[in-house]
Amino acid sequence: MHDATHAAPWSAGHGATEDKARLYRDLAQELEALLAGETDPIANAANAAAAIYHSLPTLNWAGFYFVRGEQLVLGPFQGKPACVRIPIGRGVCGTAAGDRRSILVPDVDAFPGHIACDSASRSELVIPLLDGGQLLGVLDMDSPELNRFDGDDQVGCEALAAIVVRHLR
Ligand code: SME
Repeated sequence: MHDATHAAPWSAGHGATEDKARLYRDLAQELEALLAGETDPIANAANAAAAIYHSLPTLNWAGFYFVRGEQLVLGPFQGKPACVRIPIGRGVCGTAAGDRRSILVPDVDAFPGHIACDSASRSELVIPLLDGGQLLGVLDMDSPELNRFDGDDQVGCEALAAIVVRHLR
């Protein structure tokens, strides 16, 4: 069981789902405002990674990998230095990219082929960045907490990823 005193504000108790929905709504608005008016994709990905990392509780890594040929290559992020190149189809990021679907990993040790960049990471959520039919890359978030992400986080982060995609064009 979780120690409630150390739990994220929205992770327990009455109204947790509503609180989390509000957190993602607020962050989506903040992100939209932050990226509007700038067209440089590196600048926008960098500010998006910083906004996500500092707004969502209990993350140790948040950032982007972009498609370069048959690989994903590290883009702007917050957290410890990470693996630079991931073949599409490998690890959590490469699987999300290859399958073009979000992957929620409650326990990274139980995901075959997980690539450990920061040994502190215990759970992970990866969202593909899809611009119509085109795969641009992935948004990757890691947490030092087991089971940090749930379906509400997936829905919230998919909405954030859609905003980022519109500002990478
Ligand atoms: N764990 C990822 C690698 C990227 S880092 O977590 C930043 C994976 O298995 O694809």
